[in-house]
Amino acid sequence: MIARMHLNVLTLLILSYLQLILGDNLTKLKCSSLRKGQYRCDEPLIDPERQAADNCNEETRTSRVWCYPVENILCDGKVHNGSTRGFQMTVPCKWTNGKRFDTALLFSIFLGMLGVDRFYLGYSAIGTII
Ligand SMILES: *[C@@H]1O[C@H](CO)[C@@H](O)[C@H](O)[C@H]1NC(C)=O
Ligand SMILES: *[C@@H]1O[C@H](CO)[C@@H](O)[C@H](O)[C@H]1NC(C)=O
Repeated sequence: MIARMHLNVLTLLILSYLQLILGDNLTKLKCSSLRKGQYRCDEPLIDPERQAADNCNEETRTSRVWCYPVENILCDGKVHNGSTRGFQMTVPCKWTNGKRFDTALLFSIFLGMLGVDRFYLGYSAIGTII
């Protein structure tokens, strides 16, 4: 019990000593100001039906994703282990309004009309031969 208390005091002392020599920089480091390579981020979630990012903003065409500082990075007052969420980042994303299938339908109707046109052309050609 007493040994445990001593250990806690010692840990506290070491921590404050570290903070002193490091100029309190560690705890003040903001996760969002980490350099590339010090974190990895999620890909925007893709909605398979729309083939677009799930939470893609229509106006800005961006999406917010979570980023995970790599192991042993201390930022926003927390030590990270590579799978703990650190901060959110705004990334560009594809945006569709869900009209993909309507467009496909219009396209096929358009192609169909071309086919019909060709059919008519062919028919009239045959018609003139006969
Ligand atoms: C603390 O941060 C400042 C600016 O952010 C930097 O200039 C300085 O070198 C850092 N000190 C240590 C000990 O990392
Ligand atoms: C990282 O920390 C979180 C929360 O503290 C924990 O749930 C997770 O299992 C840890 N992951 C690794 C790889 O240590």
